[in-house]
This record gives sequence, C-alpha cells and structure tokens, in this order.
Amino acid sequence: MNILICGDVVGRSGRDVIEELLPNIIIENDIKFVVLNGENSANGFGITKKICEQFYELGVDVITSGNHIWDQNEILNYINNDKRLLRPCNYPVSTPGRGYGIYKLDDGQYIGVINVMCRLFMESIDDPFNILIKIIEEIKIKYGNTIIIVDIHGESTSEKMSLGHFLDGKVTAIFGTHTHIPTADLQILEKGTFYQTDLGMCGDYDSVIGMKKEACIQRFTKKFIKTKLEPASGEGTLCGTIIKINEEFKVIKFQQIIKGGKLQR
Ligand SMILES: [Fe+2]
Repeated sequence: MNILICGDVVGRSGRDVIEELLPNIIIENDIKFVVLNGENSANGFGITKKICEQFYELGVDVITSGNHIWDQNEILNYINNDKRLLRPCNYPVSTPGRGYGIYKLDDGQYIGVINVMCRLFMESIDDPFNILIKIIEEIKIKYGNTIIIVDIHGESTSEKMSLGHFLDGKVTAIFGTHTHIPTADLQILEKGTFYQTDLGMCGDYDSVIGMKKEACIQRFTKKFIKTKLEPASGEGTLCGTIIKINEEFKVIKFQQIIKGGKLQR
C-alpha cells in the first residue's frame, strides 16, 4: 500500500500547488492515504475550517500541525469536531483537539497517525519521548500491530533524529516537519522504521522558509523595526514522500517527491 506525506503547506502558493498536483500524484502512484501538515496554510499562520475542507476535497485524509495550529481563532471552536485535524499530542492535558487518530481504510486496514512537537529551540511543552511511548502502547492495545505514522514537528535535526532512533521498530514511519527545508536523509533505520528529518514545505521557495525574503532579511538587519511577515506568493513546490508498506506494516520502498516551482527537478 502506498501512502503520501506532504510537508508544511505555506499560504496561497502552497495551497495552489497542492490543488494543482496532488490529485494526479494520488492517481499516478496509487496512493491510498494522504497526510499533510497544514499549520501554515492560512496566509502562513494556522489553518481554517474552509482550508481543511478544501484539503479533504483534494484527497487529503489527515492534516497534522504544530506550533502554529492556534494562530486562527476559529480553530479553537472547530478542532474538537474534526477527527482528521491533529495538533501536537504533547500539549498540556486540557488542550482542545487530539494529538493522534486511528483511521480505517476501505479494505479494513487501520492507520494510526501521531503528531508530536519537539522542544529544542521551540516553546516549552511536555516531553515528546514519554508521551509517544504511551500513545503507541495505547494504539497497540486497542488495534494490535498496525501502521503507525508519526509527524515530528521540530526545529532541531538532532532532537528529531533522536526521536527517530528512539521509536525505531515501534512505528512504521517517522517524518519531520517545521523547518520547511527538505532533507535528503530518507532511510530505513536499524529496526525497520522509515525516517526522514524533514519533508520540506509545499510553498514558494523563492523566499525565506515560505515568507517574503525582504521582510525576513529586515528582521535580521533592522532589529529596531517591527516587520510583519507575509507568505511569498510565487509558484509553489510540492514537497513530500511516498512510502510503500508491506503486509507486516514495514516500509519496503520510498520516494521523495519534489515537484513544481523553484525546486522542480
Ligand atoms: Fe511549525
């Protein structure tokens, strides 16, 4: 079975490239399940109900997120009603929404998707290592051995790689998000789990991680001016990875997808 995971969708450029390319990628690669990180899809900051619905319409099954999940106020009232929209599982206990979900495919196969956030160079949040083990145990008790995919939303490559090796053999695949830069370290770890430090973003790469470059440079060079960041609006690149999973829920093949815009190969 083939699963596609797409990196952080940034603004209109990201949404446009998803709309333009995703339906064909799904057909051409016989994709059965699509996960996409949508936390920057609403003008670079957060996500709305309408955008969630647009993604589902295009073939997305589950939307993951991260530190920007709360940027649009409406999401607080919406997130509890949408089981396919995840927020990091290691937010404090009373946080609205859910950090993981189990989804059933037409053929009866269950897929668990977990969204977690790192702590290094990010906001203070509960221990990701500890909570992931608890959730994985919970899923295995309820559903037995099944496909589990983890979106690790984090800034630091070392924390993501540590989480990767920590979970090796316990889940099917681990994908990093948040840095908006695709990494080339796709691999099957020692105990059989697929790992990639960052999927990269779906957005305009003629930018600084999806934002207009002039404003970003100004933030570094003119600290005395408050500069508003806005998403770059040029042609977007879709960044994602397709994994092929066998009947033992192991990844047997993987392919990085980088299509459209500046990074087109
Ligand atoms: Fe993020």
